[in-house]
Amino acid sequence: MRRIAQISDLHFGAHEPAVVAHLHAALSAIRPDLIVVSGDLTQRAHRSQFAAAAGFLERLEAEGARLLVVPGNHDVPMHKPLSRLLWPLRRYTRYIARGRSCWYADQEMAVLGLASAHGLTVKDGRLTRIQIRAIADCFAAAPPGAARILVTHHPLVPLPGDEPGEIAPALRGAHRALEAVRAAGVRLVLAGHHHLHSVGIADAGSGAALSIDREILVVQAGTATSWRRRGTPNSFNLIRLDGSTVTIDEWRSTGGPFSCPAPGSSRHGRSADGSAERAGDAPRS
Ligand SMILES: [Fe+2]
Ligand SMILES: [Fe+2]
Repeated sequence: MRRIAQISDLHFGAHEPAVVAHLHAALSAIRPDLIVVSGDLTQRAHRSQFAAAAGFLERLEAEGARLLVVPGNHDVPMHKPLSRLLWPLRRYTRYIARGRSCWYADQEMAVLGLASAHGLTVKDGRLTRIQIRAIADCFAAAPPGAARILVTHHPLVPLPGDEPGEIAPALRGAHRALEAVRAAGVRLVLAGHHHLHSVGIADAGSGAALSIDREILVVQAGTATSWRRRGTPNSFNLIRLDGSTVTIDEWRSTGGPFSCPAPGSSRHGRSADGSAERAGDAPRS
């Protein structure tokens, strides 16, 4: 059994200091096997914001936490066109990525993080052909029985966006990426970006928000620490991998300590034909 805490959209610079402290306390108490940070660590990619984010991560690591981090669009400087074009992730690399791997594998899980934030796009994400090839290459080297998990900041499927009723498109390259994901045996994709928690079993014909592949479970995290909420509490996901069953618990904070109001309610198994089937609640966003 493995447990992954997915924290996302921390947005240091637009964060709630008390919630940051509560998040630290929750993760210290839970002690997951891996903490996945799915992008937007800062609000405007300023040095001070990266330093604050780095300090938060380092405090977790000092307690023995293992981290896997990918950047988000807010981690690319917005108002510096030259930097944006030539070195979009320079500060992210200097403060966050250096010394940290975007790949983790053991006998039970293999997790790959890919940077979907690039300099040419302001808000939307994309995966390059080289990155998509890496999906096949990395997971081919994973232990055969390990659960394969892909992490990006921008979702691989269309999901509710910033505006009421809006369905934001998937990242560019999503179609090819999903083919690679499927071929590599990835059954769990994690993302952030929209600041809304959601869990969906991909089901062709079920509608735009979840219209991908019924074999792939799509998990999105809310914003863990930012005040840029979408009418929902700050939250993070605690994902438990237990054999063929995946359980996703949303831990929430309304300014106080994080707690999980409905543990075990989002539980997903795998049927005999290999497709995902829901054993818990309905998808929500
Ligand atoms: Fe964000
Ligand atoms: Fe984002």
